[in-house]
Amino acid sequence: MFNVFASVDGRITTSPGRNVLEWTGAGVDGEANRIVHRLYDELGCDALIGGSESILVYGNHWVELDSPIPSPKAMDTFVVVDGRGRIDWQYTKGLIVVTRSDVSPAYVRQLEDKQIHYIQTGTGDHVDLVLALEALYELGIRRLGLTGGGGLNGACLRAGLIDEVSVVFSPVIVGGTHTPTLFDCEDAAELSSLTRLRLLCTRPVGDEGALWAHYRIVRQ
Ligand SMILES: NC(=O)c1ccc[n+]([C@@H]2O[C@H](COP(=O)([O-])OP(=O)(O)OC[C@H]3O[C@@H](n4cnc5c(N)ncnc54)[C@H](OP(=O)(O)O)[C@@H]3O)[C@@H](O)[C@H]2O)c1
Repeated sequence: MFNVFASVDGRITTSPGRNVLEWTGAGVDGEANRIVHRLYDELGCDALIGGSESILVYGNHWVELDSPIPSPKAMDTFVVVDGRGRIDWQYTKGLIVVTRSDVSPAYVRQLEDKQIHYIQTGTGDHVDLVLALEALYELGIRRLGLTGGGGLNGACLRAGLIDEVSVVFSPVIVGGTHTPTLFDCEDAAELSSLTRLRLLCTRPVGDEGALWAHYRIVRQ
């Protein structure tokens, strides 16, 4: 279950390396961030999954909000794909890390020392997302909310692992050429590579110009 907010041109942040929370802090996201947080629970997610780059960006570009966004219940179990073992974990409550089987011993030691639940799967460039999802299913997770960023979203899209797509569009256009988008992955090889969607619902949300679109992915 994919659920994120984006600009009308599908960018999920201002430019590479920037924390999208700055849109919320500046009051330009049309309340989309708050609405997306609520939707995780309304859409029945029982856990969330995010990418390693997003966590590193949040750490390097911290944004403090005057009025914090209430966490969805699903956030109680937060899965992060950190295949390369790049993150020095500080906050570990409810955390599950997915990393590669051949990640460095020092990283595994960190996970053990900090008593972080972890799954090791895949070798080489990336974790094996299919096996990771199977392991999460074994842990009792049934409806996983995919939260971004664009790299993880794109990898899940190309692996055929997404069943629903929920996007809240903020009333902004970002533009750019290297800025993360909703789905960043290898280019579509041909017309048949397009992912087709069936519309479930679309409507304005909140009072600040955001628009929610909810689709089911059509399997071919
Ligand atoms: N608007 C929103 O709702 C929203 C939500 C989240 C984030 N963001 C923004 O997104 C930006 C970061 O996004 P990003 O796209 O740069 O990074 P990202 O998606 O957070 O990180 C890339 C992730 O994809 C994984 N990955 C890439 N290809 C893969 C493959 N083939 N198989 C398995 N895993 C694969 C990477 O694994 P490794 O760890 O192994 O490299 C990593 O976990 C930040 O600026 C943040 O502010 C926006």
